[in-house]
Amino acid sequence: MTELHTERLCLRLFRADDARAFVALAGDPAVARMTSDIPNPLTEAEAAPWLRRESGEVRCALEYQGRLVGGAGYFRRPSGAGELGFWIGRPWWGLGLATEATRAIVRYGFTEGELQAFSSSHFTDNTSSERVLRKLGFHPIGRAAMWCVARRSMVDVVEYWLARPANEKRAREPAAGRWRALLDKMRRPGTTQSATGRESRREP
Ligand SMILES: CC(C)(COP(=O)(O)OP(=O)(O)OC[C@H]1O[C@@H](n2cnc3c(N)ncnc32)[C@H](O)[C@@H]1OP(=O)(O)O)[C@@H](O)C(=O)NCCC(=O)NCCS
Repeated sequence: MTELHTERLCLRLFRADDARAFVALAGDPAVARMTSDIPNPLTEAEAAPWLRRESGEVRCALEYQGRLVGGAGYFRRPSGAGELGFWIGRPWWGLGLATEATRAIVRYGFTEGELQAFSSSHFTDNTSSERVLRKLGFHPIGRAAMWCVARRSMVDVVEYWLARPANEKRAREPAAGRWRALLDKMRRPGTTQSATGRESRREP
């Protein structure tokens, strides 16, 4: 991925010269303590791995009005699901930027990234993250506890899941998918094909 644009944001790769702003914004205790892996305090040397892209990852800097304001992305699990993560610097909270950025990331993951689903989680004391995930259509699937580097303790989390919508088109539809779509089109309306090849009425 090179760049994505939403109504207000440019989602681009992090650059080495983002380090100072990254440390000021993500190193803010109010941000770091709501993530599992951002230390607090955070030094520029510790920030360096966040500015690099690892294979299997989509990791975007969020630029708003020409400034770095946050980050969002996912890493691809072997199962084909993407684990979504995001943060916004405190001066820009409550403007809808996390929702706008993660909506674009999720769309990208389902289309270009060919993900089957997204997973995510938030600490139980992170209501705004819960709102963001629910606005995107994520639903809770369980509870667990996760180590929080900034708090230096285990913290309870709610785990979430978002399955790929049936109508989300992949950018590169696999050949088998194209054949299935063609067969679906040829099938009589109002019927479905059972696993045994027999036709059955569609559920209401
Ligand atoms: C979570 C976070 C990314 C949200 O960013 P944001 O740009 O402010 O999010 P949005 O504006 O898109 O949406 C926030 C929602 O939470 C709601 N909200 C904010 N504070 C809230 C609170 N204390 N209680 C209930 N809802 C709250 C907002 O009203 C909004 O919901 P709405 O659109 O229904 O009104 C940001 O607070 C953050 O970076 N926090 C620290 C890091 C973090 O938590 N990352 C996610 C880890 S899972």
